[in-house]
Amino acid sequence: MFKRTLWLLGSALLLNSCTLMTNTSGTRVYNLDFDANAFRPVTTQVNGREVRYRAYERVVYVRSPQDTTYQSMNIYVPEEYFGGRTIGAYNAQTAPIFLPNGVGGYMQAEPGTAGNDERTGSPNAALVALSRGYVVAAPGARGRSTKNAAGEFVGKAPAAIVDLKAAVRYLRYNDRAMPGNAERIISNGTSAGGALSALLGASGNNRDYEPYLTALGAAQTRDDIFAVSSYCPITNLENADAAYEWQFGGVNDYTRLQIARDTDFRIQRTLVPGTLTAEQIALSNELKPTFPAYLNGLRIRSGSGGGSSVLTLDQNGNGSFKEYVASFIQASAQTALDAGQDLSAATYLTVSGGRVTAVDFDAYVRAVGRQKIPPAFDGLSLENGENELFGTSAANARHFTAFSQQRSKAGGAVAEPEVVRLMNPMNYVGATGTQRALHWRIRTGTADRDTSLAVPVILGTRLINAGYDVDLFLPWNVPHSGDYDLDQLFAWMDRVAAP
Ligand code: DHB
Repeated sequence: MFKRTLWLLGSALLLNSCTLMTNTSGTRVYNLDFDANAFRPVTTQVNGREVRYRAYERVVYVRSPQDTTYQSMNIYVPEEYFGGRTIGAYNAQTAPIFLPNGVGGYMQAEPGTAGNDERTGSPNAALVALSRGYVVAAPGARGRSTKNAAGEFVGKAPAAIVDLKAAVRYLRYNDRAMPGNAERIISNGTSAGGALSALLGASGNNRDYEPYLTALGAAQTRDDIFAVSSYCPITNLENADAAYEWQFGGVNDYTRLQIARDTDFRIQRTLVPGTLTAEQIALSNELKPTFPAYLNGLRIRSGSGGGSSVLTLDQNGNGSFKEYVASFIQASAQTALDAGQDLSAATYLTVSGGRVTAVDFDAYVRAVGRQKIPPAFDGLSLENGENELFGTSAANARHFTAFSQQRSKAGGAVAEPEVVRLMNPMNYVGATGTQRALHWRIRTGTADRDTSLAVPVILGTRLINAGYDVDLFLPWNVPHSGDYDLDQLFAWMDRVAAP
């Protein structure tokens, strides 16, 4: 009874309470104070060296969660920081906080764990981070098929980004109570998780998300972060169909990727071959010419400073932007060549005297091959994961572009533009009332066909133009994947976050 009275007095009183409470509707209310005693000690080996840390697992990061399986995070802290010791350049006050999200396919993700990668057996990014003196906070997030007990969807857009923001707020709210520096949060994610990582970095403190955060009882503090690592972001979804056909239009054979969860809830990817139908080719031909108008409207520039020029495309999709994208493939190939790789199979390259002097972009596209059927993301039958991302509590899937809505084979329900907007970092670079991450590392491999290379290149270039520190690179021949270059990733993180 006393607790219930407290609740009625208002949530401010909950802040200093250590107990779980029940509100008037009978749902549990969680305390957001970090409990330094609620840990499990762990000792493990990383590359032959002993690593000891404290594991705080399943820490619920909002007061009124809809699903604690996902709206919780695992926090790992090197043992050294409880004894006043240092790891490399870091101590309990200065250690950066590594924030990896495990989102894939815009599905819900449970909090990540530190350990060895299931496939490779090597230490995963969280464990490497601990061994290098980082505090790790690995948040879960709701996703496109999360349902509540009543069978309603509760993870549709913008749930996942709201959850990640709430996790950031928890860390900042508890900055003094926890080792690690909440002003040095570095986010990491791959694919849909890479998109969310970028969105987290682009949209800090923007008020568009406030009603959602308030409804969950997120800590009332800032949610901007310090730096972003984003692998192959599946982002800019409103423009991704056009970007895909700008790149792959004219390539009619495909190997399509099917993503599903197996019985252990692990993501499984299967490639299914096929050829576009006449109807699909017609859609590609309609989408492709819409991309130059979008690109030209952005007025992005190559490089920064006075010598840069505005990147454009003509109505056929040719022009300086295409050459600019090709220049990233060229730089990638040069790096591979310098590292002694044999590039003779890449017949779209011109190599002479140890230099990659030209890239035939159209031939590159044919060599890498199409993966998706047009429209690549906003499926006319609402068949794609992105359609499900934009569903409602009752409707599993909706459209999110006017193009697909107008041609819908599934009734044509379309997401509210305000909701679509919330999922795209491009809308927040340059927006007022927003604090963006200062440092960005964006990677999409040259063998990635899950979205057009234009998508990461446009995002990175926008950020460069806006004056941010951006490391944008397309690793040679790397397919859709992430965390494959942890040594370089952490070297970059150490450089940008050095105390
Ligand atoms: C992912 C891959 C996709 O091709 C896509 O459209 C969305 C998400 C992923 O791997 O997360």
